Amino acid sequence: MNTVVSGIRSTGNLHLGNYYGALKNFIRMQENNRCFFFIADYHSLTTHPDPTILYPNVKSVLTEYLACGLDPEKSAIYIQSDVPEVVELYLMLNMHAYLGELTKTVSFKDKARKQPENVNAGLLTYPTLMAADILIHNADQVPVGKDQLQHLEMTRNFAKRFNNFYKVEYFKEPMAYNDGTEPIKIPGLDGSGKMGKSEGNCIYLADDAKTIEKKVKKALTDQGPTEMNSPKPDCIENLFTIMKVVSTPDTVQYFDEKWNTCEIRYGDLKKQLAADIIAATEPIREQIAYIDAHPEILHKAVTRGKELARESASKTIKEVREIMGFRNF
Ligand code: TYM
Repeated sequence: MNTVVSGIRSTGNLHLGNYYGALKNFIRMQENNRCFFFIADYHSLTTHPDPTILYPNVKSVLTEYLACGLDPEKSAIYIQSDVPEVVELYLMLNMHAYLGELTKTVSFKDKARKQPENVNAGLLTYPTLMAADILIHNADQVPVGKDQLQHLEMTRNFAKRFNNFYKVEYFKEPMAYNDGTEPIKIPGLDGSGKMGKSEGNCIYLADDAKTIEKKVKKALTDQGPTEMNSPKPDCIENLFTIMKVVSTPDTVQYFDEKWNTCEIRYGDLKKQLAADIIAATEPIREQIAYIDAHPEILHKAVTRGKELARESASKTIKEVREIMGFRNF
């Protein structure tokens, strides 16, 4: 049986990108794998969040995990900071992670540009913490969106390097989960390449119908096609990309034809897109409301998840310490 590990940072509510890029695959994978899904609260510290929002952020991601269908009976669902073994492995892996490769990481360069006043060591070693999350359970597969593939490649390098240095075949080289389709990137509604919390262009799973309608209505468009069968500009292609994940193939084809014949009306396209996003996310909002009214569900889920995760993690740490030469007196 394959071991699957993945997580999402606790930086606020989950958006369509998190859901279609990652969470939907978590849910698919929990059926026939040994799964560990966590909330990456340590990773959220790189931007120095106010302590008062740390807990509510973890709580909302946990609620949304469960509302989307992650099942504590099938997966270990836990909070990263509940498993101290991860931090120990992070320290060990950092001894074999080099400044050159860490500074070259796309996400590091990006963040260093966006927050020049706070280029901290945690930001630099973000990929080693992520590798520790994955290797602590010796994962085979990691379901992530496209933007995380470089981190996964670095995880494989760290695993290989550890094995070579200590002359063992201990860590597996974890692969991105691929359900046969390309890793997905959900674009923003502002014409930008990626839907993301820091970009402020998100539709959240918890958004109500009115909010979703308003956000889609405001999405960036152009003046419309002037030539038959012309390529779509990015802002329009983006709306179609979202439509492909929430709407039926017939709907996508209908608007594609309208585009190709220059008969498209963006008002109609947006109305349909908003209705399909609302329909796709409505059951999740119902579950969120249910869990909010029954908070004991959260406690039960993470208590069990922590137990399972620590059982697996402490076995790994014991073996890694052995390999590295630590001995008890
Ligand atoms: P985070 O919180 O940035 O994103 C969580 C997951 O959502 C995916 N994602 C997207 N997918 C498609 N389109 C988008 N617009 C989009 N936005 C986000 C991300 O690819 C990711 O899979 N470093 C991770 C969290 C993490 C982790 C791990 C993941 C920490 N440790 C170990 C896997 C294994 C992250 O940045 O998540």
